[in-house]
Amino acid sequence: MTAMQVKLGNTTLRNPVVLAAGTCGVMGEIKDAINLSTIGAITTKSITKDPRVGNSPVRMTTLSNGMLNAIGLANEGIQSFIEKQSAKAKSIDTTVIGSVAGDSIDGYVEVANAMNEIDGIDLVEINVSCPNTSDGLEFGGCPKRLSSLLNEIKPVLTNTGMLVKLSATPGDIRPHAKAAIECGADALTLINTIPSLAIDVESRNPKISREVGGLSGEIIHPIAVRIVYEIYRDVAKEASIPIIGTGGIMRWEDAAEFILAGASAVGIGTASFVNPAIAPIISKKLEKWVQRQGCNSINELVGALSIH
Ligand SMILES: Cc1cc2nc3c(=O)[nH]c(=O)nc-3n(C[C@H](O)[C@H](O)[C@H](O)COP(=O)(O)O)c2cc1C
Repeated sequence: MTAMQVKLGNTTLRNPVVLAAGTCGVMGEIKDAINLSTIGAITTKSITKDPRVGNSPVRMTTLSNGMLNAIGLANEGIQSFIEKQSAKAKSIDTTVIGSVAGDSIDGYVEVANAMNEIDGIDLVEINVSCPNTSDGLEFGGCPKRLSSLLNEIKPVLTNTGMLVKLSATPGDIRPHAKAAIECGADALTLINTIPSLAIDVESRNPKISREVGGLSGEIIHPIAVRIVYEIYRDVAKEASIPIIGTGGIMRWEDAAEFILAGASAVGIGTASFVNPAIAPIISKKLEKWVQRQGCNSINELVGALSIH
């Protein structure tokens, strides 16, 4: 292992910097802005069984220290993904994480199964912040529902590791993290966006058409760090399950905070909209930080927050 390599299940990333789902294109189109061989992994857009047009505009707005979006999982569906995107995966010069979403267990399993067969996809990330159409409740909302989903998905992932991406919404997500690990998660991705409302006070309209959207960017970072810290300390450390700390990384120090709080890797989302070339910069600066800390490997700094 080199100083910056990290492991997620059986997969070794060349460094801990991961581009988060839905923020770097469907299949790494951000390669036009950065050299993908300088980062640890890219995540695809979340793909569902059937194509989805998503919500009507306005679907995104910028706030002074974050972003609000209600894209509504717009995507081409797994059939088109297989036909148009899958062949690109093996020529991408970094690890590819396939993101899976759905509105039924069968839908998730079908997409996970297809991702598992794609040459070049090493890890599959299950986005559980999606409502089940049969009961309207989010799969990730309660540990029991989460387990019933993951217990069906895990057996089809014969070639790929299973990452489970949890949202902060249920509050204390320690039981959800435990459930994911018991179902065989190889890593946890924490966190997704946080449901929020922004209002234009002159028109008195919500700033995005769906009213409530998902908040991301700088403003959510301390929340995400707290969650990574608690999940690492109380659940993941003992189980030796790595965490991808995601939420509000705008500069290298934010990524380093996640590592000290217990993340093995870090996810960058909104920052790529501000500066598409940010990820390699953060990766380089993290490497210098590891050297300054006198460590041979970034793994020595995972969870190394010192508490007096
Ligand atoms: C425009 C946009 C689209 C997103 N699409 C997805 C998605 O398809 N699947 C998913 O799991 N997360 C999605 N996310 C959430 C991000 O992957 C990430 O978890 C979240 O934005 C927090 O990280 P950040 O503050 O660095 O953006 C999306 C976020 C944004 C801003």
